[in-house]
Amino acid sequence: MYTGLQHLHSFLAYLVLVSLLIGIANGLMGYLKWRRFEEKDRKLALPALITTHLQFLIGLILYFISPKGLSNFSGEAMADATSRLYILEHPLTMIIAVVLITIGYVRGKKSDDSRKQFFSHWLFFGLGLVLILLRVPWSKFPW
Ligand code: HEM
Ligand code: HEM
Repeated sequence: MYTGLQHLHSFLAYLVLVSLLIGIANGLMGYLKWRRFEEKDRKLALPALITTHLQFLIGLILYFISPKGLSNFSGEAMADATSRLYILEHPLTMIIAVVLITIGYVRGKKSDDSRKQFFSHWLFFGLGLVLILLRVPWSKFPW
């Protein structure tokens, strides 16, 4: 199960990035063109929410079963940059990113002001994307 989830987590990372870019691009375009926010705009943001939530869930499971996760937590591991990335920096940064993306989507759904809806999509998805890019294990990604 560990290897399967590890591969799924790596593969989903691509879908997370692509769907976030779609959400950000659509949000930014709608915002700049002063368009009216429609149901299709919410649907274009939905893949970003689904892929990040699923990624979060898989990441959480990995954290408990991976030898690079919780079981590796120690003072020594903290002093090593790669170990620290997996036991602390990656999970923490990704959780904050997922929360921001969820806030952006929910604000986009709840507001009835098109400007705010598009704004929430590009701003919060954009912030989430920056955080993800900051703490993805680049030594393993994109290959
Ligand atoms: C521990 C795991 C998860 C947590 C804590 C979580 C949390 C949340 C929260 C807080 C929202 C916003 C609800 C709202 O106010 O509208 C949400 C929405 C959503 N989540 Fe998750 N989620 C998790 C896992 C998943 C998974 C595994 C999927 C699907 C693969 C998923 C799909 C969705 C979808 C589609 C929505 C949006 C529904 C809508 O259109 O309003 N979530 N989730
Ligand atoms: C949007 C969110 C996330 C993205 C894009 C992402 C991406 C990645 C990538 C690309 C890897 C490297 C995979 C490899 O070694 O081949 C990885 C590994 C890992 N991630 Fe995430 N991740 C996310 C969220 C999370 C979360 C929320 C957690 C934990 C709570 C987590 C825990 C882990 C762990 C423990 C590993 C190491 C797995 C192993 O190889 O044993 N990830 N992640």
